[in-house]
Amino acid sequence: MNVLMISPGFPVEQPFFTRGLARQGHQVIGVGDQHEQELAQVAKNSLSAYLKVPSLADEAAVLNQIAEASKHFRIDSVECTWEPFMVLAAKIREMLSLPGMTVEQTIPFRDKEKMKQVLDRNGIRTPRHIGTTSRDGVRTAAQEIGYPICVKPISGAGSADTYRVDSDEQLEMILPKLSHVHEVSVEEFVEAEEFTFDTVCVDGEVKFFNICSYRPRPLMGRTHQWISQQTIAVRDVHAPALESGRKMGIEVIKALNFKNGFTHMEWYLKPDGEAVFGEIGARPPGANTVDLMNFANDFDIYEGWAEAVTKGKFSQPIHRSYNAGHIFKRAQGEGRIQNIEGLEGLLSDYGEHFCIVDLLPVGARRRNWKQTLRSDGMIIVRHPNFEKTCEILDQIGMRLQMYAE
Ligand SMILES: Nc1ncnc2c1ncn2[C@@H]1O[C@H](COP(=O)(O)OP(=O)(O)OP(=O)(O)O)[C@@H](O)[C@H]1O
Ligand SMILES: [Mg+2]
Repeated sequence: MNVLMISPGFPVEQPFFTRGLARQGHQVIGVGDQHEQELAQVAKNSLSAYLKVPSLADEAAVLNQIAEASKHFRIDSVECTWEPFMVLAAKIREMLSLPGMTVEQTIPFRDKEKMKQVLDRNGIRTPRHIGTTSRDGVRTAAQEIGYPICVKPISGAGSADTYRVDSDEQLEMILPKLSHVHEVSVEEFVEAEEFTFDTVCVDGEVKFFNICSYRPRPLMGRTHQWISQQTIAVRDVHAPALESGRKMGIEVIKALNFKNGFTHMEWYLKPDGEAVFGEIGARPPGANTVDLMNFANDFDIYEGWAEAVTKGKFSQPIHRSYNAGHIFKRAQGEGRIQNIEGLEGLLSDYGEHFCIVDLLPVGARRRNWKQTLRSDGMIIVRHPNFEKTCEILDQIGMRLQMYAE
């Protein structure tokens, strides 16, 4: 098959999805706005051709360029595993009359209001919610729903522009901060633990699923700079405590009529055991969470996805031998990393459970902690026991310190 892969080089997971397609024996044609020389080696090695476009955000121009290119070579399918360009991928499919998700099928995965409206019609428990484009609309929604509320963009990512609001006074303080957001979802604030339900599906059937536990809730991690966010791919995905979320996950996929590929759902588990829907994307999770699935199972989910979307099968063996978790560290201070402390002691205590240590080196400039999920570095560990996995990650959170100046 000749598969068109949108943005084969960025973000970091994309080269591996591209490689998955190549390993399945396909000719992969990349379309992206990176220069070909800047693509990661894994992407370069996996591509048969690369179509450089000025900007993936300029849909009309990209569609024109692909229409022109398709006169010279056949395109059999279009794949996109990165959220911002799901609709672009659907438009290309429609233009070339290719199978796969249409624009209409994609929109409920991009617009958090439309998404919840479909799920409400299917009897799935979403937070009470109202979509609005004006400040007065937010105020009215807050009165209708009642505090505490969560105000967030209908197509946000990485908890950007997302606020918990407990009172009218707080609401007036955050409204000016949202002036650049066109439409927001005002939701009942759900007090709960937060999990994912991620799948690879073939023809609407779940072939593989994964559940991650977020420690703490992403909005907390995003609000306080001192927190080192953890995400753990849970080994015991069949635990009774997680059943309500698993069941909801399957119902959501059915309600949205999702057929083939990766999904990434987030859901809330309330103290009384009730599962509440959070959001879902028709794509894999970002920020190296796909790698956690690989470390938990010792398989190659990138290739598993490629096989699912191109051949309708999933033959990677699902071992679930480990819990695999990552922790993102933030340095203290501003400027460049001067010193990293505590790593040696951690490696001597837990080194055999470490999979990846990827910290900014001394001398590197700190990343903007509001704009990156990975912050100033990532460590991935794995362990068969969940509590032990949490212990190791907590120890890293406490003992590993990065200092910047
Ligand atoms: N109704 C809600 N009640 C409680 N917390 C919420 C609610 N909505 C959002 N949050 C918090 O805000 C975070 C971000 O919201 P959401 O998951 O909808 O968007 P996003 O994280 O920006 O998108 P993505 O996960 O694709 O990056 C959630 O993980 C959760 O911690
Ligand atoms: Mg989210």
